[in-house]
Amino acid sequence: MKRVMSGMQSSGTLTMGNYIGAILNYKKLQDDPENECFFTVVDLHAITTPQDPKLLKEQTEAVAALYFASGIDADKSAVFLQSHVPAHAEMGWIMNTLSYMGELERMTQFKDKSQKHQESIPSGLFTYPTLMAGDMLLYQADIVPVGEDQKQHIELTRDLAQRFNQRYGETFKIPSSEIPEVGARIMSLQDAKKKMSKSDENQGGFITMVDEPNVIKKKIMRATTDSGNEVRFDKEEKPEISNLMTIYSCLSGISIKDIEKKYDGLMYGAFKKDLVDVVVEQFSPIQQKYKEIRESGSLYHMLQQGAEKAHAVADRTIEDVKEKMGFVLPVNKLKK
Ligand code: AMP
Ligand code: TRP
Repeated sequence: MKRVMSGMQSSGTLTMGNYIGAILNYKKLQDDPENECFFTVVDLHAITTPQDPKLLKEQTEAVAALYFASGIDADKSAVFLQSHVPAHAEMGWIMNTLSYMGELERMTQFKDKSQKHQESIPSGLFTYPTLMAGDMLLYQADIVPVGEDQKQHIELTRDLAQRFNQRYGETFKIPSSEIPEVGARIMSLQDAKKKMSKSDENQGGFITMVDEPNVIKKKIMRATTDSGNEVRFDKEEKPEISNLMTIYSCLSGISIKDIEKKYDGLMYGAFKKDLVDVVVEQFSPIQQKYKEIRESGSLYHMLQQGAEKAHAVADRTIEDVKEKMGFVLPVNKLKK
């Protein structure tokens, strides 16, 4: 059996970038019976930037419901909230003490995010990657499906795991990232130099998984393109249309080459119109299921089921780690 572990923040709703870069891979990995999967909503990571309590609650439930609506199955995988398993905070602290300022300063996500908080950068943003390392290591993950932007964090996790193993004896598996070949970095619909992100001030730059069909249509038809009209994949010369072709390909399963053939001699307008259909077709059934899950109240039970599975693995790892480090274990945890 291979262990699979990944997570998403609840600092906003999920975008098409999250779906293509991460969720599609979660599903693929979940459907391989050789894998045991843990998927979490990382609400403790979300608070590394200030969150409104009501909104945080709503978004955490929304992200969890979108996992299930997308086909992540509560019986096949453990789907849970990070804050339901306190070992995450504990392991995050331990990883924190193992890390160096210099290696955290090199993290590009920290450099990007801290620019928005120039006056007073939250220290949680700085130590964000150590909490994330703890997430993976608690489950002894082999495979971590993520988009391109998380690769550096997983490399740091590997370094921290190796450091721990050297210092305290063999404890952690060394996890590997699994990044999709196509779709690992979906770009903004308004600026193909920027990653598609829910925190973009320009609402036209991203499509969320709960956008209505007419909103999806507006955003795609208004997406920026170059002044040419040839539907051809060229990331350097034609980044905007190449991004739209990537989205088309990932959601329809049609290869980029076949898309080029299909739209040979046709204009951007015709391609974009079809892309609207592809996106709406993909997201409509998910949105329908999402509504049902939110209305039924089944979410809390499924998350409880997930938390129990997560506890069973995470609690064992944290005890082992603490014992190896020389912590005095409470009397009920002493080995007979
Ligand atoms: P986040 O929303 O930052 O918690 O990201 C959750 C997951 O979605 C991570 O695996 C990211 O790498 C992935 N992801 C986020 N934005 C994109 C994007 N624009 N393209 C591809 N993957 C993305
Ligand atoms: N930092 C990740 C992101 O923003 C989310 C995350 C937290 C994660 N813990 C994780 C991803 C563990 C994979 C494994 O996308």
